[in-house]
Amino acid sequence: MAMWRPPERIRHAASAGSWPTAGQAEASLLFSGIKVGSLSLASRTWVPAMVPWRATDEGEVTPAVLDWYRRFAEGRPAAIVVEATGIRDIPSGPLLRIGHDRYLPGLRELVRVVREASDGETRLLIQLIDFLAIRRRPDPATYFARYLIPTDAHRVRLGLEGADEATLRAALARLPEARLAEVLEARELEALRMGYRERVTDLHLPQVRELPQVLPGLFAAATTRAREAGFDGVELHYAHAYTMASFLSATNHREDGYGATLEGRARLPSEVFRAARQAVGEDYTLGCRFLAEECIPGGSGVDDACYFAVAFARLGFDFLSLSRGGKFDDALQPKVGEAAYPYTGPSGYECMPSYYSDAVGPFGRNLAAAATIRRAVREAGFTTPLIAGGGIHNFEQAEAVLASAQADLVALARQALADPDWFRKVRSGHGDAVRLCLYTNYCEALDQRHREVTCELWDREGLDQPGITRSADGKRRLVAPPWREP
Ligand SMILES: Cc1cc2nc3c(=O)[nH]c(=O)nc-3n(C[C@H](O)[C@H](O)[C@H](O)COP(=O)(O)O)c2cc1C
Ligand code: SF4
Repeated sequence: MAMWRPPERIRHAASAGSWPTAGQAEASLLFSGIKVGSLSLASRTWVPAMVPWRATDEGEVTPAVLDWYRRFAEGRPAAIVVEATGIRDIPSGPLLRIGHDRYLPGLRELVRVVREASDGETRLLIQLIDFLAIRRRPDPATYFARYLIPTDAHRVRLGLEGADEATLRAALARLPEARLAEVLEARELEALRMGYRERVTDLHLPQVRELPQVLPGLFAAATTRAREAGFDGVELHYAHAYTMASFLSATNHREDGYGATLEGRARLPSEVFRAARQAVGEDYTLGCRFLAEECIPGGSGVDDACYFAVAFARLGFDFLSLSRGGKFDDALQPKVGEAAYPYTGPSGYECMPSYYSDAVGPFGRNLAAAATIRRAVREAGFTTPLIAGGGIHNFEQAEAVLASAQADLVALARQALADPDWFRKVRSGHGDAVRLCLYTNYCEALDQRHREVTCELWDREGLDQPGITRSADGKRRLVAPPWREP
């Protein structure tokens, strides 16, 4: 599947900048401690959620999941957020799940492994996700024969009043591409071209209409399980293309009190938080990730995000982690038989920008918005820590984010994948040993195909060494090679 990129195609490269000595690191803002809710973090470093596709088809923790998080923990970031984890007890492919107590033993083991590998230094949170139904792009013949529900409106538009269903289906299937938009409804055309996708505004669907009744309980139960498994905190996933982000979206025109106005759009995310808070109490660290900007036409901008951030701070969220874009609305058309993916269009580029870019470039695209949102929260009188990132790979950048008050913690996703020891290396004065991310999105291309995510900078290294676990295709090692401090 292709990914959109800016037409300017200006090439940008990560740079090492100047690395600190151990003494300079010790005195830096980045390696100074901070409280996030009831958690004391040793530094302001944060590895945000990244799905590595290592769970079983039942959503269980596997040895490969343990290896993946152990490897990050060895690098000693202050906090790791475990990948988006499904809160429902329904089949979801190889997505990690927490929708039933049977997941507890595996999740407990995951917590234990991270504690052990970081000597208890790295705090472990888990991201909780809900998402709506999406289907693969159908073969047109199948679509017209089976999925489309024929209506009299179709008959009228085709001049086939009174025609039986088989005749109508056959006529629709013969329509030239150019006439489809005249005859089909917009959603039918979308189902044909992109694959059917539910929206939070589909109030005619009982399962969508009832989301406000169902989700607070599901999120609260999953949060309780996360605490029982020993996680230090929970991040409610209110970002990107998923259910809660769709409630926050400016495109949410629900007229049942859960959309249309800023207040209405924030209502379910607020009710979910309250239910989760009530389930685990005041002393459990509970935050969310949401979008500084949706980056789609008609989507939420930074003013909306300021409103949500202040509302969430007032409600008692312990942290607010900001992301950007990543929507279905502008996703590229998938191939027949594949599902649309929210990181393929312009908003997807904003979420995980790669090295071919525009004049702004891929580094720090979310920071101006983050600074505005943080200021709004502070001006409203709240001290809630904010987390921001996107393209951060060297110490000077990270330090500048904190020094200029753009955020309180710095998130590094792909750079941490490229080199999980980034944190330990920089802290100990060995920054020159850092493997810098290339921002090619090789990892993201694997993610899109639901194949085990690895990094091109290390996945062919030492493949013949004993004890190396490999991807299903046998060609790639699954975790970065070890690093020993010289
Ligand atoms: C392979 C991969 C999987 C990701 N999975 C998630 C996820 O589960 N939840 C989430 O909020 N963000 C996810 N992201 C987005 C990252 O957390 C991060 O916001 C994004 O990569 C930009 O940060 P970076 O430039 O430091 O990589 C993922 C990113 C990658 C590359
Ligand atoms: S594959 Fe590695 S180098 Fe390429 S973008 Fe992903 S983390 Fe960076």
